[in-house]
Amino acid sequence: MPKGNPDKAATSFTLTDNASGEKYELPVLKGTVGPNVIDVRKLYAETGHFTFDPGYTSTGSCESEITFIDGDKGILLYRGYPIDQLAENSNFIEVCYLLIYGELPSAKDLETFEHRITYHTMLHEQINYFFRGFRRDSHPMAIMCGVVGALSAFYHDSTDINDPVHRFIASTRMIAKMPTIAATAYRYSVGLPFTYPRNDLNFSENFLYMMFSNPCEEYVVNPVLARAMDRILILHADHEQNASTSTVRISGSSGANPFACVAAGIASLWGPAHGGANEAVLNMLEEIGTKDRVPEYVKKAKDKNDPFRLMGFGHRVYKNFDPRAQVMRKTAHEVLADLGIKDDPLLDLAMELERIALEDEYFIEKKLYPNVDFYSGIIFKAMGIPTSMFTVLFAVARVVGWVAQWNEMIEDPTQKIGRPRQLYVGATQRDFVPVGKR
Ligand code: SDX
Repeated sequence: MPKGNPDKAATSFTLTDNASGEKYELPVLKGTVGPNVIDVRKLYAETGHFTFDPGYTSTGSCESEITFIDGDKGILLYRGYPIDQLAENSNFIEVCYLLIYGELPSAKDLETFEHRITYHTMLHEQINYFFRGFRRDSHPMAIMCGVVGALSAFYHDSTDINDPVHRFIASTRMIAKMPTIAATAYRYSVGLPFTYPRNDLNFSENFLYMMFSNPCEEYVVNPVLARAMDRILILHADHEQNASTSTVRISGSSGANPFACVAAGIASLWGPAHGGANEAVLNMLEEIGTKDRVPEYVKKAKDKNDPFRLMGFGHRVYKNFDPRAQVMRKTAHEVLADLGIKDDPLLDLAMELERIALEDEYFIEKKLYPNVDFYSGIIFKAMGIPTSMFTVLFAVARVVGWVAQWNEMIEDPTQKIGRPRQLYVGATQRDFVPVGKR
């Protein structure tokens, strides 16, 4: 049950209907930090009006204790801990524990949790045949969407959402199996034999092993790349009520099983305005091609009549630097240095784009800064990860946020099925006319 702030009713808000002159008192709720919210739950019952907020730019959809963002100051906290501290000092498994349970684990609890995740990484053998039903050239996000949705058919012993044990096992299974699904989707598309996870490796090492190992030779994990991967997973693990997380919550609000809900989240993440932006960034850089063409593309991005937008720039919430992007930028340089990549033309191009956009009046005025996806694509490319896998990697990380938020929602006694209303602008009631008389 959400603990919230004991002093939740901060003040009230008076709404005046200018047509009738009637006044309505609306409670204002106070969180532990962040802006207060006007509680409009009784608005329709009391006034006969709905609120109208396409894109939910002014709407809080739930109470949550998991992640806090201050978009003006560029702050991101997981359970109160700043993202840069976690990226620097923690690891992905510990962050998973933190997001799910709300506190950092003791050494013993961390060991038990890591053991549980490790021993759930293998897929039901029958799933490997399921993969083979896809076309070889399928986009790995399409495969991931299908396979994660199908997990409910393979693991129906953990789909009772009212049973906390089922919820826990389903959550563990999803966090543990996502890297195996991602790696298998990749290996299938390039014709490599499927690998099985290795329990002697940590989460990120095992993921790199499953992606890149070859049965004909020993695979040696590069510790710099494993650390970079772990950091990327931490940075992408949760991000409050973004599109895919809201999709998971609204899917789950009907009582749907968690595997189906996460498959819905993956579908939402795929879009280029959301998690698909990391893939779109690389495609954009390749389209721009050379540094001298950057001004031309910046001009296109600013043109209202041109649909082109700079991928990896802008954010609904951050009107300042995305704190994840700053860690990511540093990680990008570390990875490139370790791999001995000095003069990468694509990276040079990205840096030029970043420089021009940060100096341009349009981007400054609209507060459009590089976001997390701008740099992640560059790191993934340097690591040898194909572009089509970028959003898949985002999903491997974000699944922990999805399951943490889904669990929080199920345990919230005030939770209701998500059911927005609308401003109807269609035809008013009219009588049916038989086809011969139209
Ligand atoms: C993620 O929300 C999350 O938490 C998401 C995420 C997560 O961790 O889950 O952080 C991950 O999805 C990051 C965002 C990745 N997307 C991109 O990089 C795609 C490019 N960016 C955009 O399309 C856009 O900035 C959004 C979708 C990210 C935000 O959209 P909003 O909040 O609806 O803002 P908007 O599109 O209304 O933009 C406001 C203005 C507009 O101009 P005006 O109509 O006011 O004149 O800024 C302009 C836009 O045209 N604008 C851009 C731009 N982004 C916004 N102009 C040029 N290039 C851009 N990238």
